[in-house]
Amino acid sequence: MEIGIDKLGFYTPHLYVDMNDLAEERGIDPGKFTVGLGQEEMAVPPITQDPVSLASNAAEQILDEDDKDAIDLVLFGTESGVDHSKSAAVYVHQLLGLNPKARSVELKQACYGATAGIQMAKGHIALHPDKKVLILASDIARYGLNTPGESTQGAGAVAILVSASPRLLALESTSTYYTADIMDFWRPVYSSTAFVDGKYSNEQYIAFFHKVWEDYQEQTGRSLTDFAAIAFHLPYTKMGWKALRTVIEDVPEEAQERLKNNYQISTKYNRQVGNIYTGSLYLSLLSLLENQDELKEADIIGLYSYGSGAVGEFLSGKLQPGFKEHLQTAVHQTMFENRERISVATYEDVFEQTLPTDGSEKQLQTSEDPAKICLAGVNDHMRSYVVK
Ligand code: COA
Repeated sequence: MEIGIDKLGFYTPHLYVDMNDLAEERGIDPGKFTVGLGQEEMAVPPITQDPVSLASNAAEQILDEDDKDAIDLVLFGTESGVDHSKSAAVYVHQLLGLNPKARSVELKQACYGATAGIQMAKGHIALHPDKKVLILASDIARYGLNTPGESTQGAGAVAILVSASPRLLALESTSTYYTADIMDFWRPVYSSTAFVDGKYSNEQYIAFFHKVWEDYQEQTGRSLTDFAAIAFHLPYTKMGWKALRTVIEDVPEEAQERLKNNYQISTKYNRQVGNIYTGSLYLSLLSLLENQDELKEADIIGLYSYGSGAVGEFLSGKLQPGFKEHLQTAVHQTMFENRERISVATYEDVFEQTLPTDGSEKQLQTSEDPAKICLAGVNDHMRSYVVK
């Protein structure tokens, strides 16, 4: 039985900052952001979007009534969750009106959470082939104004429906993974922004890639020439290339060109959104599938997942017949076209708007946010949402 990704949804807030504007305001050469990091635009979440509403908006795009009935497991991968106890999955389950006979859980291991969810979903569907699993990968990446990480912020969510007989990508059985306790990026429970040792984090991302890629080659006998494309976790779009270029040199020229070209295409959406942590790898996969017309049935796609702290995994999947017809390409194009470019001053204002932490009431203006599902306010330490 084939098990894999049946549908992919994606949502990013309607506001963004142009990286040239940010560079100018910070007195930095724009080339550092656009070439050195490979980022053109950065999504800015209004206060009416949090990881729960972002994920709900992404999932709402793809689920029909049959899916809602068949989903009996909701797994929410995030590292910017809204509660230390209650899972974000329970909120999404309610906002989307899913079948109550379901399990709903949040998963955390930095940007790796959604990949863990996908592997758990595979096991679940193998036991219950008539069921479906909804995986949410949703985050707001906040490093702080004027910090070295500021240029690699972003916000967005990817919703992944896993089922038997998937229509997009059948996941293959072999995947390779690796864990080591390192401090390259972390966010203590008292801090609203992340701490990062940027250079070390870059090095470890590449080191973990080598470990899982070498293990994958040993276990499968495959080489890079077997892949139509490899999508990477992308904290910024140059990062995946830094890893890919270390293994691509000995590959025949034709395969090298294909992998390089498809890598560029796989970064298109990420260049416009910035870092979305858990969803970044799956946004890159989506970018590849929706923007590369030459991909075809049975092509093998590799996926490199990395979550600081750290866990790395290399997995792969086979494209399914007619997969193009089951993508939401037009919806995503419209979403990008309708975004509003804001000034750096406005971005800073939006960044500094925060919710009360003392239990006092705050009602939010959701009318200016075009999203269907918004955070409506907080009262007595409880968040409330609106479905318009
Ligand atoms: N034109 C073109 N490129 C330029 C440039 C210019 N004017 N100025 C600098 N660059 C290049 C640098 O050469 C460098 O390229 P390289 O990495 O290929 O050598 C790149 O831009 C970044 O410059 P650097 O000085 O290293 O930036 P930084 O010290 O601000 O750190 C990060 C960048 C990504 C490490 C930092 O933003 C960060 O900590 N981000 C969060 C953590 C993260 O994303 N980790 C990744 C693993 S998950």
